[in-house]
Amino acid sequence: EKIDNGTVTWKSPSNIALIKYWGKKEAQIPQNPSISFTLDACATTTKLSYHKKATKAAQFSFELFFEGKQKDDFKPKINTFLQRIEPYLPFLKDYHFTIETSNSFPHSSGIASSASGMSALALCLMSLEKELNPSMTDEHFNQKASFLARLGSGSASRSIEGDLIVWGTHEDTVGSSDLFGIKYPYKVHEVFKNYHDTILLVDKGEKQVSSTVGHNLMHNHPFAAQRFAQAHENLTKMQSVLADGDLKEFIAIVESEALTLHAMMMTSMPYFILMKPNTLEIINRIWQFRQESGTNVCFTLDAGANVHVLYPENEKDKVYPFIQSELIKFCQNGHHICDRIGFGAKKA
Ligand code: PMV
Repeated sequence: EKIDNGTVTWKSPSNIALIKYWGKKEAQIPQNPSISFTLDACATTTKLSYHKKATKAAQFSFELFFEGKQKDDFKPKINTFLQRIEPYLPFLKDYHFTIETSNSFPHSSGIASSASGMSALALCLMSLEKELNPSMTDEHFNQKASFLARLGSGSASRSIEGDLIVWGTHEDTVGSSDLFGIKYPYKVHEVFKNYHDTILLVDKGEKQVSSTVGHNLMHNHPFAAQRFAQAHENLTKMQSVLADGDLKEFIAIVESEALTLHAMMMTSMPYFILMKPNTLEIINRIWQFRQESGTNVCFTLDAGANVHVLYPENEKDKVYPFIQSELIKFCQNGHHICDRIGFGAKKA
């Protein structure tokens, strides 16, 4: 029978925060609200096969394949995730799972796969839950998938849907919640349609600071309270920017958020510098080009050295040639990924 044995596959995207999540409480409750563009090309595809056991087991039982190879070193992370979500999916120990996962972006590219990976797995498990509870609505499905994904990695809660997602309770955003991401509920100007994100891979090394360590550095951080208040204010400002298509103000918020994220790391104890010389080289060239060209190209960063170059669809014929001629040379082996705003996870 289908419920006893089955297979489901989900392809789930990564996302890039415009207003950053950095700092959390227990159970991946964010210290401030964040908003992100869902990406399109950067994604994880996960196939989950499930087989019902004769009796409920004492432990989770699963095998894990990453890009075709058995990956035992990822198992503890998945085991922790399953433990955290078991209260909400009480059937997990009734099954043996085979999890086969692969990323559209190269391994060790410095692109975090936790958002796409955790959301893909959460969605697969939700499909099994839906087999068991067929009356579940799509809205409930997406909300619970985001809720579960959050317990794997906070930013994963923003990878279920698109194209703009808010996660974290915010006084001016109706329906926002610390528990799951929601689709941005207000009007968005058409300049943000098909917005581009060209990801420049400056440093493909392992992350210097895991995001768990990073978030914890916000406890007892001297600037924490102000930072969290700033994120709230920036999200309120972002609402008029998104409605009016005010790209000058968009750039000011997005770049300031990226630099503030890094400023938090530079002013924590211990302190870190996650940018590389080429990160700064790229930022300076973006600033210079923006001034000369009158375009609205800008950058954002996540917790590493790579640069996300953001620009509207109607400027791509000016901006992309600039990226090719002036920025690609600062990437490791010229490596970059042409991505754009996307619409969320899809069942394969
Ligand atoms: O989802 P986590 O715990 O890996 O945190 C991600 C935090 C940032 O990527 C730096 C910012 C964000 O909002 O995505």
